[in-house]
Amino acid sequence: MSGLLLVDAREIFAVAQERGRLSILVEGERIAAVAPLAECERLAAEKRLVPERLDCSTSIIVPGFVDCHTHLVFAGSRENELYMRAGRSSYLEILAQGGGIYSTVQAVRAASEEQLYDIGWRHLDQALSLGITTTEIKSGYGLDLATEEKMLRVIDRLRQDHPVDIVSTFLVHTVPRGHNRQDYIDQVINEMIPAFRPLADWLDIFVERGVFDVVESRQLLQAGKAAGYRLGLHTNQMHDIGGIGLALEMGVQHVDHLEVLSDADAQGLIDDGHIYAVFLPGAEIFTFSEHVGQIHKLLSMPERLVLSSDFNPGSSPILSPLLVAAMAVWRYRLTDPDLILRALTVNPARLLGFADRGSIAPGQRADLVCLDLANSAQIPYFGTLNCIQKVIKNGRIAEPTTGKRD
Ligand code: NIG
Ligand code: FE
Repeated sequence: MSGLLLVDAREIFAVAQERGRLSILVEGERIAAVAPLAECERLAAEKRLVPERLDCSTSIIVPGFVDCHTHLVFAGSRENELYMRAGRSSYLEILAQGGGIYSTVQAVRAASEEQLYDIGWRHLDQALSLGITTTEIKSGYGLDLATEEKMLRVIDRLRQDHPVDIVSTFLVHTVPRGHNRQDYIDQVINEMIPAFRPLADWLDIFVERGVFDVVESRQLLQAGKAAGYRLGLHTNQMHDIGGIGLALEMGVQHVDHLEVLSDADAQGLIDDGHIYAVFLPGAEIFTFSEHVGQIHKLLSMPERLVLSSDFNPGSSPILSPLLVAAMAVWRYRLTDPDLILRALTVNPARLLGFADRGSIAPGQRADLVCLDLANSAQIPYFGTLNCIQKVIKNGRIAEPTTGKRD
């Protein structure tokens, strides 16, 4: 069995180090021990393991990041819209004019499955090099059966082939241009939701004024629930049209964006006891949103707060969890760096249903990131410098694979 010994870290996230520097022994894909070096060495000898040693004397070690909200399979790019928004066009105006999501839909329909696979692969390589060891990926740029299925097939192939662990979501993103709304919703319910279940575990809907309203979204959620999907929503991003009430009524597992959130809805989320709240500061900043994610209203449910990249070519062309961490401080004035790090690791792991990752402890999957920082409070501070020393996925040091697919 392969082994790895991460020697003498400056800090291991969330592990008390009163006894001085600790090391991590990895056996195969799992963490075997988090202990002083001598103890790790003794255990390795006992297990007849000759681990590769990694000097971590200048490193802090954190769990691999879990990004639970991305749209990282797409084609084309929309930098023009960034400058349109800088010039005060709104995200929804650009969408209503046939740009935004529709622009990426055109590019994705025109792309071959191989091209999408290659683009997705490159984005996953970038994710891994940024410390993301588990990610969710949504469809939603097809808006017809064949193209949504093409996206989900690509995501499924990437899940089988790429070292980053992938969770797949069918996203009902918007009504295709020129279609009757109810006809499209009926097609999603009767054809797409049943057909895509083998390819996707989650169903997500963009609940927003001018996109899907609560009545339409309820129909879609009911069909998704009946087909056995787990449920998430993009909601309360630009307008509050009742998405939180719907989420609570339907047993949705996570609600994302939450830039406009009434006190009553915040209380509803807290009282629910299960639902996760996902905040996407990248999307707030890149859409020049005048609202700010309402995370402050939910600080009494710290274990259900999540931060994600929302990586996509429109509202959030950013992927780095270290940048998300920094943005969370600027944007939300969060004062607790531990909360931010948990919102990027253990909390999204639990949201996605993984008990085996997100923290550093014996038995956990050996998904680890070594950073050239003095302590974890520096992550949202110096984190945007080039400080990632090593990324370890399933007990192996991740090597860049860009351009190499086999
Ligand atoms: O999470 N809000 C809707 N969907 C995505 C954006 C997708 C796009 O603009 O391409 C989001 O921000
Ligand atoms: Fe999104």
